[in-house]
Amino acid sequence: MRLAGVLRVVVVFITVGVTWFIASNFLNIDWNLKLLKGRETKDAAPRVLTYKCGTSQPCPKNHFAFKIESGAANVVGPRICFEGKILMSSVKNNVGPGINIALLDGATGEEIETNYFNMYSGDVKPLIDFMAKIKPGTLVLAASYDDIATKMNPEARKYFTEMGSSLIDTVKFRDNWIFAGAKGIQEKSPFEQYIKNNGTVNKYEGWPELIAMTGCIPQKMD
Ligand SMILES: *[C@@H]1O[C@H](CO)[C@@H](O)[C@H](O)[C@H]1NC(C)=O
Repeated sequence: MRLAGVLRVVVVFITVGVTWFIASNFLNIDWNLKLLKGRETKDAAPRVLTYKCGTSQPCPKNHFAFKIESGAANVVGPRICFEGKILMSSVKNNVGPGINIALLDGATGEEIETNYFNMYSGDVKPLIDFMAKIKPGTLVLAASYDDIATKMNPEARKYFTEMGSSLIDTVKFRDNWIFAGAKGIQEKSPFEQYIKNNGTVNKYEGWPELIAMTGCIPQKMD
């Protein structure tokens, strides 16, 4: 009888152990799913409440919805959404450290090209060549990732100024900058944000926090 009692205790322990093991593994899985879901919905938000690219209101007629997010430190890539379509992101594998740019036809909203240029260990020449070829009427959506200032000289910056940027000249080492403008617009773009890299207030040690903006760009009408 004593042996049977000991065996029973052992069986109970094993059962509890196995149950705990299974439960904790399921909990882990559940937790991971929750984390993933949390990350997705943070940007994509409930369908009922948001519109294309996560704008809080539908864009007026003859406007294109967009969302631009800068990178976070040198870890998370930037994201550019246009009319509900992700044009550039880490998932699409078409972003990189430096300045990330998407070009669209301002009249039709059609995607023309996306590209990124490393402004830290790369050279400014490919960026200048890229900017010089942009045709009037082209929308330019840009986002920083890691650093866009080290190699970006006045010649390169001037292209963005001509597209409506008023802040590009102040962007320094590891500042975050996001921008939407167009080649040939006559005024300053309202779609531009900038956050300084400042060691005492940075969210990440060597980088400021990411910035994001949504908006509606008027379609080019002739
Ligand atoms: C960094 O932020 C601190 C606190 O706001 C401020 O006092 C300091 O002037 C800033 N430094 C630079 C270089 O902007």
